[in-house]
Amino acid sequence: ALPRDLEGRRVVISAGGTREPMDPVRYLGNRSSGRQGYALARVAAHRGAHVTLVSANTADLVEPSGVRMVRVGTAEQMRASMLTESDGADVVVMAAAVADFRPVDRTGHKIKKTDRDPGALELTRNPDILAELVEAREAGRLSAEVIAGFAAETGDPDTTVLEHGRTKLTRKRCDLLVVNAVGDGRAFEVEDNDGWLLAADGAEYPILHGAKSHLASILWDAVSEQFARHEKP
Ligand code: C5P
Repeated sequence: ALPRDLEGRRVVISAGGTREPMDPVRYLGNRSSGRQGYALARVAAHRGAHVTLVSANTADLVEPSGVRMVRVGTAEQMRASMLTESDGADVVVMAAAVADFRPVDRTGHKIKKTDRDPGALELTRNPDILAELVEAREAGRLSAEVIAGFAAETGDPDTTVLEHGRTKLTRKRCDLLVVNAVGDGRAFEVEDNDGWLLAADGAEYPILHGAKSHLASILWDAVSEQFARHEKP
């Protein structure tokens, strides 16, 4: 049986990939399926947590039962929902693939084949939601005990991926960071995953190749351990 170590905890998880409109019918998107975020939600709910899943675009996935769903499309919508939903949360996990940039002009006419000059697509930077959550906590506006992020890294050999992960954990100042190697059919659009779980205190756990629910269990174990440590007198 799964432990009920997250009983009563309020967790907010983002999942899926944002889509940034470039005209009324097209968007810039990414290959995130949402499977890892949905697995995190499902496992947390089984372990007793009150879960809110802020879901951007995903593959055709079954909604985890007993989980509150909030649907978003763009990075800006995800930002607004994450900031609202994380109010009062104990744990916030950013598992979504958020577009780093969005087209500046999204309301114009449909870009047509007959347009004499399609022009260049002008992009502007999206907010870094994870960074904003960490800043909100540092400013005392967010009380979440654990803020976790994901990092999809490419690199060969795998040690490069781990190095990128360590650097990113330091830069993002979150408590936990899951580092996945992506590319070559890894992590995105597939059922399984592997990588490392890095903690701000320097602890590093390898995550052996397995189902996304396996990775989810390891993350919740680490969260649970953090709670236990804080509760000790
Ligand atoms: O810097 P990088 O995009 O690799 O960091 C990945 C982590 O940051 C993920 O947890 C992702 O959900 C989050 N992120 C975000 N907002 C962005 C880009 C990434 O919250 N605009």
